[in-house]
Amino acid sequence: MRIGVLTSGGDCPGLNAVIRGAVLKGTAVHGQEFLGIRDGWRGLVEGDVHPLTRHDVRGLSKQGGTVLGTSRTNPFDGPHGGPENIRATMDRLGMDAVIAIGGEGTLAAAKRLTDAGLNIVGVPKTIDNDLDATDYSFGFDTAVEIATEAIDRLRTTGDSHRRCMVVEVMGRHVGWIALHSGMAAGAHAILMPEQPQSIDQIVKWVESANNRGRAPIVVVSEGFTLDTMETAHSEKGLDAFNRPRLGGIADVLAPIIEERTGIETRATVLGHIQRGGVPSAYDRVLATRLGMAAIDSAVAEQWGTMIALRGTELVHVPFQEALGGLKTVPQDRYDEAAILFG
Ligand code: F6P
Repeated sequence: MRIGVLTSGGDCPGLNAVIRGAVLKGTAVHGQEFLGIRDGWRGLVEGDVHPLTRHDVRGLSKQGGTVLGTSRTNPFDGPHGGPENIRATMDRLGMDAVIAIGGEGTLAAAKRLTDAGLNIVGVPKTIDNDLDATDYSFGFDTAVEIATEAIDRLRTTGDSHRRCMVVEVMGRHVGWIALHSGMAAGAHAILMPEQPQSIDQIVKWVESANNRGRAPIVVVSEGFTLDTMETAHSEKGLDAFNRPRLGGIADVLAPIIEERTGIETRATVLGHIQRGGVPSAYDRVLATRLGMAAIDSAVAEQWGTMIALRGTELVHVPFQEALGGLKTVPQDRYDEAAILFG
């Protein structure tokens, strides 16, 4: 069997470990051959591939990014896109199946292609940890480590200047990175999309920390919004919240907090630093296991399934179920963290 491997969507620490795990198991145990598909679906649509041998993947598990490249190309677009063209390209390349490593968009495209008869297995990837079908996704642990270290560093400079530090972490739709890094680093407030808050509440947490002589640390997910009542009746200073902006939410919150509390406040947006560099040991192991499990799926011809982590076990779930929804931070996890605020 000759298997193509692609990485699609935003990059994520651990992608190379998945590729390595798949190629090493596939070649050693099943005598399979591999083709690396360049830049996600683009490479599959255009037939842009190269051989991927055991030699090529040696030492890859600690390397950040993806050696295959990635893109957000939609495989249904363009003159060579769509299932019939892709099937013809795969036939020409002698490619029997594809391992698609990606997030929700990638898996949705993989589902449509599988429904049209192509042989695809999926491996979930998101640093946001927001795929409901899997308990954890690789990349998340690394992102939390990076964010936690950054917050620890911001604390010492904040303490020195008696400043409030607002730290923006990734998480467009969910607050997992904010929750875990904020808890780990002892934040005085954690703000996330699932829990809109008022400025009054944020100010209370900041002032409470400040009154105890601590430099207040506010961790905020990029997708956080103020509670709707407050945004609708925006008071002085909140107009900025509703304006189109270049910076992130931290850049909006910092001046409002400073104005309301009189505490000098600085904003830091961590951005893509959270996705770069070497994966954590946990992510390397999880990613390697996922790559190997994808080979098991291919051998069993379980096309149209994604590997998911349930507890410590890897299971195969149909794409339909894998695309079942966002894994948001549950109320009890937020309430538990909130006991530590202020
Ligand atoms: O979904 C992963 C993620 O890292 C989000 O947390 C973030 O909003 C987004 O990707 C950034 O995407 P891009 O790399 O395209 O700017």
